[in-house]
Amino acid sequence: MAKARKKARKSAPKRGMGRRSAGASDAISLLKSDHRQVENWFEEFGSARGDSRKQDLARRICQALKLHTQIEHEIFYPAFLEATGEEDIHHEAEVEHDAAKKLIAEIESSGSGDEYFQAKVTVLSEMIKHHVNEEEKRDGMFGKARQADMDLQALGEQLAARKAELSGSAEQRPRGPSGRSRQDSRATARY
Ligand SMILES: [Fe+2]
Ligand SMILES: [Fe+2]
Repeated sequence: MAKARKKARKSAPKRGMGRRSAGASDAISLLKSDHRQVENWFEEFGSARGDSRKQDLARRICQALKLHTQIEHEIFYPAFLEATGEEDIHHEAEVEHDAAKKLIAEIESSGSGDEYFQAKVTVLSEMIKHHVNEEEKRDGMFGKARQADMDLQALGEQLAARKAELSGSAEQRPRGPSGRSRQDSRATARY
């Protein structure tokens, strides 16, 4: 693990814009923008009428959260841990990701006809709200990352590239009759 963390950080080129840069593509801006997108979809889900609309929103939410948690897990979290040594914040965030992934897998394998579908999406929304607050609050992960020696611009580029790569492969996956690809299930299990 330590080796992987080192590699992730070393591969981020320094461009002299690291420490406190807040450009549109810096790591924190990119991750926050994902948070806002998913929050909007949760809000739409809350007021949506009709099973197919709810199903479509739940599918988008789950897909976006899988991509987001994966790029955080692979790139941002290891760089954060190495730069700050904040094990408690890092480990709690990883545990929250794991809990969310289990619920995401349940939502993806059920449908809007499932008696507990609405409840599962509502609980996922509450879990994510808590998790996002932990990342974005004043002394949370993002605040500490901004104070640390992290090249947020380079990390943002890495996150964007990995996200594009993962979304591209998600689009190419063959979809089954449920609208869910075979590899989606595999990807969920891997989280
Ligand atoms: Fe996040
Ligand atoms: Fe996260």
